[in-house]
Amino acid sequence: MLAKVISCAIVGLEGIIVEVEVDISSGLPSFTIVGLPDAAVQEARERVRAAIRNSHFNFPMKRIVVNLAPANLKKAGPAYDLPIAIGILLGSEQVFADVSETILLGELSLDGGLRHTTGILPMVAMSKEKGFSTVIIPDADAREASLIEGTKTIPFSSLSQLVSYLRGEIPAPEYQPVEADEYTPPISLATDLAHVKGQEHVKRALEVAAAGGHNVIMIGPPGSGKTLLARALSTILPPMTSEEALEVTKIYSVSGLLPSDIPLMKQRPFRSPHYTTSNVGLVGGGHWPKPGEISLSHRGVLFLDELPEFGHPLLELLRQPMEDKVITISRAQGSVTFPANFMLAGAMNPCPCGYYGDPFKECTCSHSLVSRYQKRISGPFLDRVDIFVEVPRIDYEKLTDERLGETSAKVQERVKATRWRQQERFNGTKLTCNAEMTPAEVREFCQVEESAQSLLKAAMNQLSLSARAFHRVLKLARTIADQENSDIIRAPHLAEAIQYRPRSLL
Ligand SMILES: Nc1ncnc2c1ncn2[C@@H]1O[C@H](COP(=O)(O)OP(=O)(O)OP(=O)(O)O)[C@@H](O)[C@H]1O
Ligand SMILES: [Mg+2]
Repeated sequence: MLAKVISCAIVGLEGIIVEVEVDISSGLPSFTIVGLPDAAVQEARERVRAAIRNSHFNFPMKRIVVNLAPANLKKAGPAYDLPIAIGILLGSEQVFADVSETILLGELSLDGGLRHTTGILPMVAMSKEKGFSTVIIPDADAREASLIEGTKTIPFSSLSQLVSYLRGEIPAPEYQPVEADEYTPPISLATDLAHVKGQEHVKRALEVAAAGGHNVIMIGPPGSGKTLLARALSTILPPMTSEEALEVTKIYSVSGLLPSDIPLMKQRPFRSPHYTTSNVGLVGGGHWPKPGEISLSHRGVLFLDELPEFGHPLLELLRQPMEDKVITISRAQGSVTFPANFMLAGAMNPCPCGYYGDPFKECTCSHSLVSRYQKRISGPFLDRVDIFVEVPRIDYEKLTDERLGETSAKVQERVKATRWRQQERFNGTKLTCNAEMTPAEVREFCQVEESAQSLLKAAMNQLSLSARAFHRVLKLARTIADQENSDIIRAPHLAEAIQYRPRSLL
C-alpha cells in the first residue's frame, strides 16, 4: 500500500516541502530510500526499524521503498526519521489517519523517543507560509517552535505517543510555555568597561562604533588592552529588536547551535574565530552549505583578534560580504544566500615584535618587515573600515588608579538612545543603523552644515579619500551627530569622524 506524509528540508535558511512516499509491496524483505538522501538519511533505515520495533509495532517484512520528493533536491540530516516511520505505519495499515495537512519533523532514537532536531524554526515558519494546519515536532523543540505564532505545533516525546494521538486514543499534548530564560552570551571573558583603566579615547571610539554599527580596528603594542576592550564591546551593544532576534535565531537553529532550552537569541552575537579558521568556517559553505562565522555574527560583532595573522586571502574573502551584507554560495546544485550583516572589530599589533612606534620600547623589526606585516591587510580592506584607533601602552598611574570608570550599562544606555534615533529615521525601510545606509540615504540624511563643507573638501583632498571612504566618513559623522541629537552634521562631528580614518603607520 502507498502512504504519503509531508516533511520539510532546509536549503540555506529556507524550508522546502518534501513529500515522503512510502510504498509497501509483497516481495523479498527490503528497505530502500531514494530521492538523493545523504548518509544520515540512509541511516534512518536502521533507526526507523529499531524505533518501530521498540515501540511495539510491527516492522513489515515486505518490500519497502521510500521516495523523498522532489527527487532533484538533496536531503540531509536525520529529520526524516519520523515521517518515514509514520509512513511505514500508515502503509502497513497499523494506523489510519489523515495527515495530508500535517508536517512531521523529528529524529528518532532507537527506543522510539523523539530527539532535538536542527532547523525547527525555519521549518515551522515555512509551514505557516504555505498554510499547513499542524506541525508535529519533538517536544524538546517546542519552545523554539513556539516563537512562530499562528501555527499549531504539537510536541510529542515518542513515536508511540504520536501513534496514540493519531489513533484518537489521547488528546494532543499541549506545550506548556515556561518563563523563557534570559540568554546569557557564552563570552565568559567579557569585562565591564568600568574595569578597563584609561584608554578613554578607545572607549569613546567603541561607543561610536556600537552606536552606528561601524567597523573598527584597534592597533597597539602587546598587553595594551585591545582584546580586553574588544570583548567589552559586547557589553555595550544595544539589544536586538524582535525581528532581528528571530533572524539570528534562525541562523543558529539551522547551524545546530541553538540549545533547545534557549528559545530566542536576545543578545547580539559576538563571534571571535581563531585565525586558523578555514575559508568555509569563516564565510560558510561546504558540501551542504552551512552558515560560517560571518553569518553567525549577523546583527552582532565579528571580532578578529590578531588581524594580520588571518592572512591576506582569508581577509579578502570578507570584502564582498562587508559591502553586500549577504554571502551567496554557489554549488553545482544551485546557490544559497545567507545574511551576513555584521560589524567587524579587529585588533592588531603594528609589527611582528609589537612595538613599532612605541615611545619607550624599541621595535626590533626591519622597516621592510613592518611594511610586509602591515600589507597583509590590503588597501581595499582598510577602505571598508570606519574607525581606526590606536591603543597605546597604559602608564602606571592610570593602571593603578582605584577609581572605576563608567560602567558598560551606562554606556549601553547612550548607545540605545542613539540607535533609537536611527530606528525612527529608518522607520519603514529595511535599514536598522547608520552603517547600512546606501549612497541614496547618505544624500538624504547626511546633510553637512555650510561651514563644515570646506573641512570635508580639505579632508577629501589631503587624505585622498575614495568615494567609499567619503560616504563612510559621512555615515560615521551622522552617528556622532545622532549622539548629540543633532539633525545636521556639524564641523566637530565631521572632524571626529575624519580623525578615525585608517592611515598608514609607516
Ligand atoms: N587598560 C587596561 N585596564 C586594565 N587591565 C588591562 C588594561 N590593558 C591591559 N590590561 C591587562 O592586560 C591583559 C592583557 O590585555 P589584552 O589581552 O587586552 O592585550 P592585547 O592588547 O590584546 O595584547 P596582544 O597584542 O598581545 O594581543 C588583560 O587581561 C588585563 O589583565
Ligand atoms: Mg590581544
